[in-house]
Amino acid sequence: MGTAPLRVGIAGLGTVGAGVLKLLATQGDLLARRVGRPMVVTAVSARDRTRDRGVDLTSVRWYDNAVDLASDDQVDVVVELIGGSDGIAARTVETALAHGKHVVTANKALLAHHGTALATQAEAQGLTLAFEAAVAGGIPVIKGLREGLAANQVREVHGILNGTCNYILTEMRTTGRDFGDVLAEAQAKGYAEADPSFDIDGVDAAHKLAILTSVAFGTRVDFANVHVEGIRHISALDIDYAGQLGYRIKLLGIARRTDKGIEQRVNPCMVPVGSLIAATDGVFNAVVADSDFADKVALVGRGAGAVPTASAVVADLVDIAIGRRTPTFAVPASQLAPLTPAPLSARRGRYYVRLMVVDRPGVIADVAAALRDQNVSMESFLQRGRAPGEAVPVVLTTHDTEEVAMLRALAVIGGLDAVQETPRMIRIEDY
Ligand SMILES: NC(=O)c1ccc[n+]([C@@H]2O[C@H](COP(=O)([O-])OP(=O)(O)OC[C@H]3O[C@@H](n4cnc5c(N)ncnc54)[C@H](OP(=O)(O)O)[C@@H]3O)[C@@H](O)[C@H]2O)c1
Repeated sequence: MGTAPLRVGIAGLGTVGAGVLKLLATQGDLLARRVGRPMVVTAVSARDRTRDRGVDLTSVRWYDNAVDLASDDQVDVVVELIGGSDGIAARTVETALAHGKHVVTANKALLAHHGTALATQAEAQGLTLAFEAAVAGGIPVIKGLREGLAANQVREVHGILNGTCNYILTEMRTTGRDFGDVLAEAQAKGYAEADPSFDIDGVDAAHKLAILTSVAFGTRVDFANVHVEGIRHISALDIDYAGQLGYRIKLLGIARRTDKGIEQRVNPCMVPVGSLIAATDGVFNAVVADSDFADKVALVGRGAGAVPTASAVVADLVDIAIGRRTPTFAVPASQLAPLTPAPLSARRGRYYVRLMVVDRPGVIADVAAALRDQNVSMESFLQRGRAPGEAVPVVLTTHDTEEVAMLRALAVIGGLDAVQETPRMIRIEDY
């Protein structure tokens, strides 16, 4: 490393790409002082050349094709901010590495699907593949886990990894409105995409979780073994009951080391009202790492948005400019272990169940018997309001039990004549 400028090529000038341009233009002096040399954007690529990106790009080379930018001799680092697990983003990153260029990306989908292979390709040539912005946007969770907790065995990482879902669940709770209503409003305000399925079905959080798991446990990125549930089926009723029981419902990503392997799941959970996770509302994200020496460490902040995400992208550029390198996923890519997935049915923990039950004598005894037959013991039981002959909600929570027993009991309960809808089950995490 000398004092020559670090030459940066940016592929994708949308929300994050424009944020990076703005940040580099604003913080140029500060960054040059910190790294000892300037960082200069020498090339950019996007689809629409005529669109105003908020920064003067007349002296910057323009590429209609991002793959061509990735082989430009005047570029030392390619910043991939296009998105998507395959296609142009993947070809851009592969081409950059093949041409001996470092890569910074915010693309969690790409890393969830191809992270191990890309890290192997980068490390084989002594190149950096950096992705702080891919997980929890502006929050430095990758550095926190990989560098900050390098001396620890991690037991678990969990967190709120999708701001759109957290916003929707927070709005549902504070206004009492239903999911569809709040989603429509979030789309109108631009907090949710026109096609929100990646967010609300948990896929985006699952991409991030697969990356976190790899960094936390030294395993290959294994998206296929993430159990994914979204928030479409969460009702205002469940949110209300959660509150009455002293919980909040949050969409959590959880990666946990168990004696059966590593559990990776994205699912709505109930967490105690007093926990940090429960208090993380709106678009904010939170990540908690539980490890043997440092114990619990939490990071909270903005998990998306143009400038918070740009902050993470540029932090990675600073590392590259300084020549600070660390294995991509905390362990050299060639030594990442295959992940042994723990079956979700082996989860031991507590559960919330809501039934819609026709109010007639003997029904509750049948429900209790189905639980008893599977050795599931009830902790609390709530029945509000009576309407003889009509379905009313009945809510119960259990003590610690195995998920497989819970599922068997619910199969019996769901088959009872008096039970009107599929029973709703939500896992309780006592953080
Ligand atoms: N938005 C966030 O808050 C956030 C947070 C963390 C991570 N990320 C990740 O960051 C990445 C970018 O997200 P974003 O929200 O900035 O997306 P975006 O606003 O949709 O921007 C995508 C950019 O890629 C360009 N592009 C699309 N196809 C292209 C092609 N074939 N060749 C060259 N350029 C092409 C687009 O060009 P035009 O502008 O000309 O259409 C646009 O500038 C994604 O991987 C996303 O998951 C986003």
